[in-house]
Amino acid sequence: MRWTTAKVRQSFLDFFAARGHTIVPSASLIPKGDPSLLFTNAGMVQFKDYFLGVRTPQHLRVADCQKCLRISGKHNDLEAVGRDTYHHTFFEMLGNWSFGDYYKEEAIRWHWELITGDWEIDPKLLYATVHKDDKEAEDIWLKMGVLPRERILRFGDKDNFWEMGETGPCGPNSEISIDRGKGACKPEKNHAGQKCFVNVDGCERFIEIGNLVFIQYNRDASGALMPLAKKHVDTGTGLERTAAALQSIETGKILGNYDIDLFQTIIHKIEQAAQKFGDKARYGKNEESDVSFRAIADHARTMTFLIADGVIPGNSDREYVLRRIIRRAARHGRYLGIHRAFLAMAHAGVVEAMGDGYPEIKAAASKTAEIITQEESRFGETLDRGLELIDTELARIKKSGGHTVPGEVAFKLYDTYGFPLDLTEDVLRNHSIDVDVAGFDRLMDEQKERGRAARKDDAGAPEISLGAGTASRFVGYHRYEGESEVLAAGGKDGEHVAIVVAETPFYPEGGGQVGDRGVIETASGAILEVSDTRKADGSIVHVGRILRGDANDFRVGARVKLKIDRIRRDAAMLNHSATHILHYALRDILGNTVHQAGSLVDPDKLRFDFAHTGPVKDDALATIEEEINARIRENAEVTTDEMAYDDAIKAGALAFFGDKYGDRVRVVRMGDFSVELCGGTHISRTGDVGMFKLEAESGVAAGVRRIEAMTGNGALETIRKREKFLEEIGAQLGARDGAAVERLEKLLAREKELEKKLRAMEQKLAAGGGAGGAEAEEQVRDAGGVKVVTRKLDGVDPRTMREMADRMRQKHGSCVVALGSDLGEGKVALLVAVTADLTAKIKAGDIIKNIAPIVGGTGGGRPDLAQAGGRDASKLDEALSKVATLVQ
Ligand code: ALA
Repeated sequence: MRWTTAKVRQSFLDFFAARGHTIVPSASLIPKGDPSLLFTNAGMVQFKDYFLGVRTPQHLRVADCQKCLRISGKHNDLEAVGRDTYHHTFFEMLGNWSFGDYYKEEAIRWHWELITGDWEIDPKLLYATVHKDDKEAEDIWLKMGVLPRERILRFGDKDNFWEMGETGPCGPNSEISIDRGKGACKPEKNHAGQKCFVNVDGCERFIEIGNLVFIQYNRDASGALMPLAKKHVDTGTGLERTAAALQSIETGKILGNYDIDLFQTIIHKIEQAAQKFGDKARYGKNEESDVSFRAIADHARTMTFLIADGVIPGNSDREYVLRRIIRRAARHGRYLGIHRAFLAMAHAGVVEAMGDGYPEIKAAASKTAEIITQEESRFGETLDRGLELIDTELARIKKSGGHTVPGEVAFKLYDTYGFPLDLTEDVLRNHSIDVDVAGFDRLMDEQKERGRAARKDDAGAPEISLGAGTASRFVGYHRYEGESEVLAAGGKDGEHVAIVVAETPFYPEGGGQVGDRGVIETASGAILEVSDTRKADGSIVHVGRILRGDANDFRVGARVKLKIDRIRRDAAMLNHSATHILHYALRDILGNTVHQAGSLVDPDKLRFDFAHTGPVKDDALATIEEEINARIRENAEVTTDEMAYDDAIKAGALAFFGDKYGDRVRVVRMGDFSVELCGGTHISRTGDVGMFKLEAESGVAAGVRRIEAMTGNGALETIRKREKFLEEIGAQLGARDGAAVERLEKLLAREKELEKKLRAMEQKLAAGGGAGGAEAEEQVRDAGGVKVVTRKLDGVDPRTMREMADRMRQKHGSCVVALGSDLGEGKVALLVAVTADLTAKIKAGDIIKNIAPIVGGTGGGRPDLAQAGGRDASKLDEALSKVATLVQ
């Protein structure tokens, strides 16, 4: 094949490289420093700040192939995926950019040249669209004279004004569409019989293969369009649909996106799974299973790339999107008859098809497969039962003539069976049945409310809405005290007060480090005890209760003195710096794929979560602890700098992708080994940490490990506490150190032995309804008018033998009882008992003296009871049978 997907990708980049563009790599699917977006949904996301003028680009012309995800927010194609042949959640977008350099004319001319020249698409198949008010773009098309006027179409904002999200850079656009031929669309199925044409929703015949956006505005938070200082070009061309168009022309068949070489590699793998575990369906044979093939292939790409970019399945934001995608794909597997985990196979197809272009998915492949399978298996346990519940519900609704599944059912599916709402909706969509979403939301809210009520920590804390824009400044990096003025105050009573001041030494919770505590005082002697400090809408809020005075003392405008709890802050600071050293050591010893997934730094301890598969081995943990302590003893200098974000990243600073960073960032360096973006407070030399003691390593979620540790005095205290435990243990055992271990080993071995014996005896007791059922039966003989009862036992100890003898005497009345027990290891025990009425004539002690030598022992005792030990178990029978003779 000439136009393989790889070749289309490369030809685009070569075309623009030849026109002065620098080729840059794709950015992560997780936008860096942009909290307005969950995922990179377009090529321009990584360049947004260049458009807005808050950062200066290195090159004015760039081009790339960007991995994109349209699964949330303004651009969300999830519901169309699988149902048609050209939508995806994950896709690759080819793009070229001008940052205040060339504009509409070059953008349009070059794309035309690329499409009709390099790609050799017949102009007769092409259409152009422009915004109805963009005369300039329309004139450029007309002047080029490549398309007849009737194929240059005008549309309004809906089709020809492009925006990345609710806010951000935007502008009018011009799009190029291709007519894929009559057979490509079924109007009666796809768009309610409306005639096929450009920009008709759902029409698969006319497909856009180039979007040229002329960025000239920023949509601000109020919704207003603000003109930008410079004008820019932002283009996007879907790689998959372009490849489909070129491969269709080449083969003379009408191919959809899922028919291209890249997708066929993935779909083959899914077919293999269906062959092995499912109903043996193949792609292209049956419309219903085709929907599932496409959805699985799409979702497999999304999960593969998300996990490689550091996302793991979970219950919030990005993590939940990933969970939903895996669960939706698992459900489609059921539709292909696959009732087990299989998505790792589809994932292998993605790595095979795309690993060369995206090394990150190759590097993460084994970890990714593990995470996918784990999530899939966990959901698999409830998936079938959930689908059954839906079936029952459908039958009920159809019978009653309804159209809606109640919120309670959707909630039960969510809460008990792990069905995300969109999955339930997706299943029902095939039956044209809706979910009562309002009812579902209500139940979700109630559940959240119950959760909140349960977290009594929060009870009574004032709602902090002291107004955005009361900007306050943190001045506490090197200070513990300060003076300032109250800018805002809130809270109803003296118990729960919140205030904002202009400048504060109180560190607000952030970057994992806890908020400071301390006191705020007025000159008149009023005191506010601060129990927490937090960030809210750009201001720093101190929360606490008034110890002396009243709310009026802390009204807006009041002058106050602020003093933080220094011991607590210092302890938290040690832990925070230690976290950076830990982060470094983990990457050094476990590899650079380790990255931070969350942290908590409080005065008592530190907790660090990081992406890593499987437990960290004990020897690696020991090495990590040693490395950290070596870095502490190195006493490296800790410095902080403010610099431009780009410079920080260039300097190799580790940024935590979940965090929001401004244009200017704070960089914390330790010696030559650690550089991180961080707003927290730090020590000045690593030696200040004193000591680092690893406490625990555990798993918190698939692919995420947690390390807990103590530093400084805390570490020393923990070690002392342990020493004390050891001393106590030694005292109880009557031995110390190594001897204590030996002693303990012996005790444990003895305990095991005893347990074994006990179990054996219990079994015997149970089996016999009395003792010794497993061994010989009682033998009752008459010896000259005296009843002699003997019995041979196995493993019954002397004490139990006495109890048995008592019971036997009771049972038989006047008699002589003789018991012999094989105690194992050659040892035996003998017992003779005589009932009181006979002891005048027959003495138990005499009998035992006579029979003990037979088993190699000696013994004696009272007339009514005598016991002996011996060493020859093989003679037990002989000894017992002699009793009758002796009595006689
Ligand atoms: N930013 C434009 C798009 O994503 C090119 O379609």
